[in-house]
Amino acid sequence: MMYYIEFLILTFSLVAAKNNVCPSHLDYFTITFNSKCWYDPDVDATIPEIINNYGFKSESYNVTTLDGYIIEIFRIPSKLNEISNKTKTPLILFHGMARDARSWLILGEDSPAIYYAKKGYDVWLANRRGTEYSSHIKYSRNDKEFWNFSFHEMGTMDVPTIIEKVADVSKQPGNIIYIGHSMGTTASFVYCSLNITHCAKNLKTIISLAPVANFNHMKIPMCHTMSYFTNELEFILTHVGLLKMETNFFRICQTAPFTSICAALMQFFIGTSTPNIYPRIMPILSAHGNTALCLKVALHYGQIIKSKGQFRQYDYGQIENLKKYNSTVPPKYNLKGIPVNVTLIYANNDLVAYKPDVEEIYSNLHPNRRVIVEIPRNGTAKYLAHPDFFTAANIKNVLYPEIDNVLNKIKNE
Ligand SMILES: *[C@@H]1O[C@H](CO)[C@@H](O)[C@H](O)[C@H]1NC(C)=O
Ligand SMILES: *[C@@H]1O[C@H](CO)[C@@H](O)[C@H](O)[C@H]1NC(C)=O
Ligand SMILES: *[C@@H]1O[C@H](CO)[C@@H](O)[C@H](O)[C@H]1NC(C)=O
Ligand SMILES: *[C@@H]1O[C@H](CO)[C@@H](O)[C@H](O)[C@H]1NC(C)=O
Ligand SMILES: *[C@@H]1O[C@H](CO)[C@@H](O)[C@H](O)[C@H]1NC(C)=O
Ligand SMILES: *[C@@H]1O[C@H](CO)[C@@H](O)[C@H](O)[C@H]1NC(C)=O
Ligand SMILES: *[C@@H]1O[C@H](CO)[C@@H](O)[C@H](O)[C@H]1NC(C)=O
Repeated sequence: MMYYIEFLILTFSLVAAKNNVCPSHLDYFTITFNSKCWYDPDVDATIPEIINNYGFKSESYNVTTLDGYIIEIFRIPSKLNEISNKTKTPLILFHGMARDARSWLILGEDSPAIYYAKKGYDVWLANRRGTEYSSHIKYSRNDKEFWNFSFHEMGTMDVPTIIEKVADVSKQPGNIIYIGHSMGTTASFVYCSLNITHCAKNLKTIISLAPVANFNHMKIPMCHTMSYFTNELEFILTHVGLLKMETNFFRICQTAPFTSICAALMQFFIGTSTPNIYPRIMPILSAHGNTALCLKVALHYGQIIKSKGQFRQYDYGQIENLKKYNSTVPPKYNLKGIPVNVTLIYANNDLVAYKPDVEEIYSNLHPNRRVIVEIPRNGTAKYLAHPDFFTAANIKNVLYPEIDNVLNKIKNE
């Protein structure tokens, strides 16, 4: 009898232990036995596995940048059984600062990656240097040289290298749509303002979600104060050798009581979303896909805040600047020079890509090649924040119509 009960308990816990997602924060406390919770295979799946789970083929490519970083990028060329030779428009999704390509799959069936694959686009998921999908021909991840980059290097090296691969494989240079989120937008601004010919030759248009460039008014708590100490922080941290900060600890956000604590903290720092589905997506948001923060990237953003929003190259100090830039202050990125249309889409309650800063970017873009849109446009959501471009509860109503507007305009051109 005892054995039988033990056997039952064991069997039950083995089956039930598979639960990894619950509908509310409270449910996570009883996740093992809670019939409202369920098992979501995406939580611990690889990117190709997730793509396959939704019925699509997945491909991956390793590209090597001019300065030796090897970066793996993913492609969703077609449905699993699709036999079609129809040319599709390539669409690159470029993730934000502390994340990787997985962002674009968080919402599964409704995620930007799957949604646009279903619409018939040739979807490419980019990764930047420093994510788990990157390595270097010469340096290891423990070398300080590996972490010697900012969004400047992403824009001048990662973005053009990835774009060349997409143009090559899709055979459609000039027809590529670039959709970036947050730092993914910064990298595209760097790229297209410095490598104008390359950008014009390859890209059709840029759609910038939660755009970040003239970083000044943003409301992230403590950020302004910290930015005053950019130089001191650089000195201390580089001497301590702390050139990156791992974010694996976010994994704890998968379990009670942390699902709710993490959701609250996240909203405190980058903006509240109403309504939101954080309880349900916290496991997939935190299990994987959070990537090491590179100190130099943070310092570069800090310098921009400190300079009251001047979007310019890395400040190495007057003497080094003079050697590097032939000027004591770093040169500005010239947004007016960007040769393709840029559509800025920002959220009404985003503390990072904050309205006045996005308006500043808009004012710096070329008047014939800029569009600005605030979401949500109507009552389907009240407040949207920084991550909502890949986590919003009603993303199909609040975001996709705005992106589709741009894509349809291009189609009808
Ligand atoms: C890319 O490189 C990584 C690391 O070496 C490797 O694990 C992966 O299989 C490679 N992908 C392709 C498509 O070659
Ligand atoms: C596409 O495939 C069909 C049938 O497989 C073929 O008849 C047609 O010529 C192909 N078109 C192109 C552009 O390759
Ligand atoms: C980092 O890169 C800059 C130029 O991009 C170079 O001047 C500097 O020596 C590099 N530092 C390290 C530690 O590699
Ligand atoms: C533009 O990017 C390409 C590809 O990375 C590179 O070969 C070229 O030198 C770049 N041009 C400029 C002006 O930066
Ligand atoms: C450096 O800047 C000065 C003045 O701004 C200019 O006269 C000079 O030609 C520049 N030198 C180089 C190498 O660009
Ligand atoms: C490009 O931007 C202009 C405004 O600057 C806008 O009128 C036009 O519709 C845009 N074109 C596309 C294809 O988005
Ligand atoms: C507004 O809300 C409706 C549903 O109520 C939705 O169909 C529509 O796409 C939303 N967005 C815009 C921009 O109209």
